[in-house]
Amino acid sequence: MPAHADPYLAIDRQPDPEQYAAFLEARGRTPGQLRLRRRFLRFCRIRPGGDVLEVGAGTGVLARDLARLVGRRGHVTGVEPSRVLVTAARRIAREQGLDGRVEFRVGGALHRIRAAIPAPSTGSAPPSPRPRRGRG
Ligand SMILES: C[S@@+](CC[C@H](N)C(=O)[O-])C[C@H]1O[C@@H](n2cnc3c(N)ncnc32)[C@H](O)[C@@H]1O
Repeated sequence: MPAHADPYLAIDRQPDPEQYAAFLEARGRTPGQLRLRRRFLRFCRIRPGGDVLEVGAGTGVLARDLARLVGRRGHVTGVEPSRVLVTAARRIAREQGLDGRVEFRVGGALHRIRAAIPAPSTGSAPPSPRPRRGRG
C-alpha cells in the first residue's frame, strides 16, 4: 500500500514511524516551539487539579506540559491514532515521572474518540440523551 499523502494522517503506515517520534520530540525542544506552547498554554488557562483531553497527542510533548500544569491532583489523557507514538509517549512520560497524571490511549478524532475517553471515575453514568420532541 502506498504511503499516505499526508504522513501525519497515518504515521504507522510510513516506512519509518519512529522517525516521526524523534522529530516531534526534537521539535518540542526548539526555542520557537517552547515559546509557542507557553503562549498557547497561557491562553488555555489550565488550572491545578484540572482534567484535560488532548487529541492528536503525538509523543506527548504538549501533554507533558499539561501534566505539569494540572499537578498531582489533575489528570491528562492524550489520544493519538499512532501506536508507535503512543508507545513512545508512555515511555517518555514514565521516564519523566509523569505517568501518574498523564495517560495515552490509541484513538482518533470523531468516531473513535468516544471509545478512547475514560469512563468517569466517580458517580454514576449520565443519562443517555433522548431525541428532542417538538414543543408543546
Ligand atoms: C503535528 S502532530 C502534533 C503532536 C503533539 N500534539 C505535540 O505536541 O507534539 C499531529 C498528531 O495528530 C495525530 N492525528 C492525525 N490524525 C488524527 C485524528 N484523526 N485524530 C486524532 N489525532 C490525529 C497524528 O498522528 C500526530 O501525532
